[in-house]
Amino acid sequence: MENNTVGKILFTREQIEKRAEEIGAQIAKDYEGEEVYLVGTLRGAVMWMADMMKNITNDAEIDFIVASSYGSASTTSGVVKIKKDLDGDIYGKNVIIIEDIVDTGTTLKFLKEHLADRNPKSIKICTLLDKPSRRLVDVKADYVGFEVENLFVIGYGLDYDQKYRNLPYISYLEG
Ligand code: IMP
Ligand code: MG
Repeated sequence: MENNTVGKILFTREQIEKRAEEIGAQIAKDYEGEEVYLVGTLRGAVMWMADMMKNITNDAEIDFIVASSYGSASTTSGVVKIKKDLDGDIYGKNVIIIEDIVDTGTTLKFLKEHLADRNPKSIKICTLLDKPSRRLVDVKADYVGFEVENLFVIGYGLDYDQKYRNLPYISYLEG
């Protein structure tokens, strides 16, 4: 990806916001009468986390975690590290991990196991994007915004070398 340029718009802000409303309504129904504990994965999930928070009507706590499996650009190292852990206690809680994208699945599988050790009541995953063609480990998101083909996507929180996170839509890199 040397001479990379921003490609076409894959999903507009309006499309994403509409999907967040749909999934938020589904989550409210699935967890009716229960509290949820939303765990946003920094930095990629910030915009999606904000969208989901606005559409989940249950009593909710929010927290953030930083995991990294990537180096500085777009190649995976396969090794996941927790760089910033949760601030709160999830014992007995309904955890929903809010993720930007499930690619190989390495990060999410690790995160799910890391959090399951603390005995929450339940753990589910809500991802903005899913790239199933790239999956290397067995992990499945419970709520998926959109499936994408094997493109390097950027925008709406997702970066290439820390750039493009502020694009208010999802595009991809060409080049
Ligand atoms: P995985 O562990 O391979 O599933 O990768 C997970 C993380 O890699 C995501 O949370 C993203 O931060 C990053 N990532 C994977 N694919 C893309 C992409 O197409 N664009 C931007 N970031 C990506
Ligand atoms: Mg991420």
